[in-house]
Amino acid sequence: MCGIVGYIGTQQACPILIEGLKKLEYRGYDSAGVALLNGGYIDIIKTVGRLYDLEQKLDGVSPEGSMGIGHTRWATHGRPSDVNSHPHKACDSDFVVVHNGIVENYLELKGWLTARGHVFCSETDTEVLAHLVENYYQGDLLEAVRKAVSKVEGSYAMAVMSDREKDKIVCVRKESPLVIGLGNGEQFIASDIPAILNHTRETYIMDDGEIAVVQIDDVSIYNGSGSKVNKQVFKVNWDQQAAEKGGFEHFMLKEIYEQPPAIKDTLKDRLNVLDYKVELKELSLENQYLKNLNKIFIVACGTAYHAGLIGKHVIEKMTRIPVEVELASEYRYRDPIIDPEKNLVMVISQSGETADTLAAMKLSKGMGAKVLAVTNVVGSSVSREADSVIYTWAGPEIAVASTKAYITQLVAMYLWGLHIAQLKETLSRDQVTKIIDGLRRIPSQVQAILEQAPKVENIAETVHQKEDLFFIGRGLDYAVAQEGSLKLKEISYIHAEAYAAGELKHGTLALVTEDTPVMAVITQKDIYEKTLSNIKEVKARDAYVIAVTVKSNQSIESEVDEVFYVPENENILMPLLTVVPLQLLAYYAALMRGCDVDKPRNLAKSVTVE
Ligand code: AGP
Repeated sequence: MCGIVGYIGTQQACPILIEGLKKLEYRGYDSAGVALLNGGYIDIIKTVGRLYDLEQKLDGVSPEGSMGIGHTRWATHGRPSDVNSHPHKACDSDFVVVHNGIVENYLELKGWLTARGHVFCSETDTEVLAHLVENYYQGDLLEAVRKAVSKVEGSYAMAVMSDREKDKIVCVRKESPLVIGLGNGEQFIASDIPAILNHTRETYIMDDGEIAVVQIDDVSIYNGSGSKVNKQVFKVNWDQQAAEKGGFEHFMLKEIYEQPPAIKDTLKDRLNVLDYKVELKELSLENQYLKNLNKIFIVACGTAYHAGLIGKHVIEKMTRIPVEVELASEYRYRDPIIDPEKNLVMVISQSGETADTLAAMKLSKGMGAKVLAVTNVVGSSVSREADSVIYTWAGPEIAVASTKAYITQLVAMYLWGLHIAQLKETLSRDQVTKIIDGLRRIPSQVQAILEQAPKVENIAETVHQKEDLFFIGRGLDYAVAQEGSLKLKEISYIHAEAYAAGELKHGTLALVTEDTPVMAVITQKDIYEKTLSNIKEVKARDAYVIAVTVKSNQSIESEVDEVFYVPENENILMPLLTVVPLQLLAYYAALMRGCDVDKPRNLAKSVTVE
């Protein structure tokens, strides 16, 4: 996510802006900048890279000014570069904006503004906002901003300043957070509370649709219809560290709870619900090439590999194209057999920087294959090397244990499978409609599961002292079980393994003794009875079985020790739901074992070496 800061007061603004941006670094970013009202004009200093690079640039100019806005950019539209960094100005620097969010209709607006003589210099969606404000300015900045955002579809937290009205910063919020810190003879603006905690704990938390006029001695807030709002002051009692986690104890828990919006953002403007079609506008692979594919390789590591396992089931089911899922560290050394004309290589990587995955990509391209990347980081190495990219829009993922990135990788698998199925007409219209309707229900269903977190915490209470724990399932349930097992291992250090339920009798059953905890993921209707018989196998050895299933399987309660129910949805979509209690189980078990949940021992967030 991008970070926004602003200041108006009597102090020099620049150091306050930089300090605030440093408090937002945890959000992840690839470039940074500030704009300062310096007497009669606005100075904009910005750069790709880190805040250190921005400070190097500032040392050279040491801009004056007691009013300014600043920004750290997490690239969405337009690669990381100086010119794409914020702040952005209009045709001249009379109007300057910083923005967090996505202007979905920016191309349409850019065309409309260009036709009216506006000249653009960046590839970003944000620059459109500066030109819109300029276009509507007729002597009232508040009105100009109100009119500008009325044309915008998407999400935004935006701060606008102009040297036409030197006594105010105008802010507006829709779906991206924005807070105003209330000082004495000075005011602070930020995307998130950590950036202002050193200055004040009295804040206004802006709500969707509100516009604020921030002046040195007054903050007025107006609602969407222009009426002044009598805003309640929110007093922050978090410490700095808690504030960075939005009040959550750990980044991992925060990111688990960010899954509903992350799924929504990854689906946004990719589902045409009027025609019930998937639209991957960013895809640059020819339809004819895709229709001729006779094999897809999915290559990844760790959790991303587990997303690929789901991808295999989903893509094969939807498109009837054989899919081979490979660990990048194995694939890169096994001299794979690839037909460049008919085989596509997909790589999945949250960071886009995993060394083995990058090496697998380069090997594939060296063999003439096209590579499609699924990644969460715009401008990452993977995104630059690939022939085409499907981005997940999970926002920066800080915790080492991947959660929201994984679930949005699954969303990308479904979108990709549907896209190919549409081309090859391998799914009926009714099947596509059901899956799309099912996808649209997922965010609220994940939210419903999160509201049952205390039930998962109780299950963790039961199992957290165990040294061995098994996950079992069949088909898609087995693929989810593998992710659940990795989550538990990597942060709680409990030795967990996932087994294909049908494999138990071929050896693993020997490990099952009295009270061995077994998590059984059992949602796939067509093989329900088969998995149930495997549950009975472990129960016959006195295992302690916790089932993750749907309410319509309530009869299972007589066969297991505990049940965690997830909402009903299409069979093929169930991994998007069943993984959530497994993520929470890993989190609570690790917490109860006193482990470092966000930074587990021996592990790094991005494995950029072999
Ligand atoms: C997942 O919880 C782990 N942190 C790890 O397995 C991770 O998924 C793997 O290193 C791949 O990372 P990437 O998605 O950034 O390539």
